[in-house]
Amino acid sequence: MKRFYITTAIDYANGKPHLGHASEKTLTDVIARYKRHMGVPVHFLTGLDEHGTKVQQSAQKKGVTPQQFVDEVAPLFKALCEKMEISNDDFIRTTEPRHKQVVQECLQRLYDKGEIYKGEYKGYYSVRQEQFVTEKERLPDGSWPEVYGQITEIIEPNYYFRLSKYQDWLIDFLNNNDFVFPKFRQKQVVEFLKEPINDLCISRPKERLEWGIELPFDSGYVTYVWFDALINYASAVGMFGEKFDECWPCDWHVIGKDILVPAHSVYWPIMLKALDIPLPKGLLVHGWWHLSGQKMSKSAGVTVDPMEIAEQFGPDALRYFLTREMNVGQDADFTFDIFMARYNGDLANSLGNLVSRLLNMTGKSFPEGLPGASVDGELETELQKLWETTHKDVLDMFEGMAFHTALEKIFVFITAINRYAEQRAPWKLAKSKDENDLALYETSLATMAEGLRLAVAALAPVMPGICAKIYNLLGAGEIGLWKDELDWGTRLKGNVLGQKTILFPKPEIKVEE
Ligand code: MSP
Repeated sequence: MKRFYITTAIDYANGKPHLGHASEKTLTDVIARYKRHMGVPVHFLTGLDEHGTKVQQSAQKKGVTPQQFVDEVAPLFKALCEKMEISNDDFIRTTEPRHKQVVQECLQRLYDKGEIYKGEYKGYYSVRQEQFVTEKERLPDGSWPEVYGQITEIIEPNYYFRLSKYQDWLIDFLNNNDFVFPKFRQKQVVEFLKEPINDLCISRPKERLEWGIELPFDSGYVTYVWFDALINYASAVGMFGEKFDECWPCDWHVIGKDILVPAHSVYWPIMLKALDIPLPKGLLVHGWWHLSGQKMSKSAGVTVDPMEIAEQFGPDALRYFLTREMNVGQDADFTFDIFMARYNGDLANSLGNLVSRLLNMTGKSFPEGLPGASVDGELETELQKLWETTHKDVLDMFEGMAFHTALEKIFVFITAINRYAEQRAPWKLAKSKDENDLALYETSLATMAEGLRLAVAALAPVMPGICAKIYNLLGAGEIGLWKDELDWGTRLKGNVLGQKTILFPKPEIKVEE
């Protein structure tokens, strides 16, 4: 059976993971987990992009081989996935034999079909930086920036992929298909294609770059890193093998806006078309995180370490923040003030207090099991009705990639449960000897518990760890398929609820921005 196949971009293995990486993996994970709750079989891939000049240079600087270098970096990214509770089914590294073989197979097939030819690359070359530079980089007076040292014009034989041949086909495809989400990003691709595109130089001579996959038809060259990297999406699920169509075509490639044009929207579809392989169903393009309004940059010291935040506040809090504050497609801003406002407001005060209030009262009054709701008052009906609309809206929003508004709705509902508790004031009812008050006391606890259970089931794709914990405290087992979890019911009746706990403790150390 075909699985819902979703991927993240594979991150460059030339440093440690940053918030952008954590956010893309979280977004993809939220979708993967949502699909699983909908009963859809999922395959979720993430991984590392390990070849290319940058890795070779970083390794040189450190005095290790590129392989040693990436072998040290890979565990950092795997640890990030683990820490952030990312439910990926596979993690591909482009230095693995399973990937290299497929890249070489693609190259050979394209070469045999005449889609790859040998030509000459003319350009300006910086010997000091060991890279080509373009006209755009010239200073206003016509000279080159100091960092490049001496620039010479060189001609280098190289291999080219016939990209331009497919330009009209791609334009036609984009005019007839929704390929990029959000739609305004597809327009950017169409705009880019209004100018003629050149064939793509897919080789690098080994004298300049050794760290790459050797061309199967010329051992003097390695493959251009983007041509190699894009193929990971297919090599990881057994391209050209028998089981390939269990996953392919991919349902979503989740990527950032910087790598849409030309890599994912021009190179990749054309590479697949030239290989007679079906295209992925869509590219889901997210915006960029900024840090207090500034572009994140390692060299400028504008970074946030997701591992540190997850360590201090818990992965669920970071996942919640990243999902709540990003409107998929738009840029978002990370500031510690907003992070703390979400942590204290939504998580500790709203959700955390509801849990501790409820468990405090059930622990004192009903240690042998949660009572049922016997009173059908106006307040109870109102809350149930609010859940009905919340339930419908949340499903629509998850389906439409509006995760931030889905979270907003769920927290409006959690606030409503807390308001219900204030109105019913069970802590006062608990002191009464009146039988009607006792019935109302039981009803209010049962209603709060059921409301909490529903909210938590809906939050599970975003905060899997905390939600599993709360379900457990409610004696509700595991959070299963949403068709069985999201209707208001009485299944918690008789459950022995857990001890009061603090789910979102006040942070001990203040994080410096
Ligand atoms: N290796 C290439 C991708 C190859 S995919 C076949 C690459 N790597 S990257 O490490 O630079 O970026 C990986 C992903 O992280 C990209 O989708 C990129 O958009 C995303 N992000 C990097 N910085 C980001 C932010 N500040 N905010 C959000 N996402 C960002 O590109």
